[in-house]
Amino acid sequence: MKLYFGTNLKMYKNVCQTRDYLKRLAELTKDMDRQKTELFVLPSYTSLSAAASCTDQSLIRLGSQNMCWEEEGQFTGEISPLMLKELGIELTMAGHSERRTLFGEDDRVESKKAAMAVRQGMTALLCIGETLEQKTLGISREVLRIQLKTGLSKVEPEKLDKIWIAYEPVWSIGVNGIPADPQYARIMHQSIKECLLELYGGAGAQVPVLYGGSVNMENARELIACPSIDGLFVGRSAWQADAFYKLMLECLK
Ligand code: PGA
Repeated sequence: MKLYFGTNLKMYKNVCQTRDYLKRLAELTKDMDRQKTELFVLPSYTSLSAAASCTDQSLIRLGSQNMCWEEEGQFTGEISPLMLKELGIELTMAGHSERRTLFGEDDRVESKKAAMAVRQGMTALLCIGETLEQKTLGISREVLRIQLKTGLSKVEPEKLDKIWIAYEPVWSIGVNGIPADPQYARIMHQSIKECLLELYGGAGAQVPVLYGGSVNMENARELIACPSIDGLFVGRSAWQADAFYKLMLECLK
């Protein structure tokens, strides 16, 4: 399987900054072997159009950080898959922990988004992860299984090649996050992979499972060395193109 490297720019970078970032990242990564690596960036909605016009998406895939589960209708403030596809965006994220904790989204909402994305021929990056309380209670695996089973419940098995998973423990994300011990991440990834096998048989093994949450130069190599970790989904450490490139090089050594 390829190694996946992606970043979510969250509510950072305006149009101009996004364009500069992508141009620099494209320049730095132009010789990276795309047979072996998949690189993606999720800019803000307002930067997507400019991003799409300055990026060769066969080299750097662009995606949205969120999406509505309907094609159109009375959904004030939402963005439909058709609007994204109009801009040439074929990848969308569902279920980032900030959507779940700050905006009240739950597994059922994420399942509708994932299903709509794949129905539209888009790829869905479904994010799952346990909270600190759930970890402390020793129910991380149960939580991940529920998030996976519910989140994927409306995705037909033949669309599974359009699903990517990101495991992001909630307690490890962002400025106050504690980086997960790679051994812990490895065990959680194994149980995610087992659940995918249980759900889809052999086809489940083809679903890439990325790790995210305080990935940095110090822990990236050890994380990516785990066979059950297929890629890294990076926030802060990737928001400067040069730093992101260095981190990828470290992993590809
Ligand atoms: P972080 O963000 O790397 O800054 O912790 C990860 C994420 O939110 O996906």
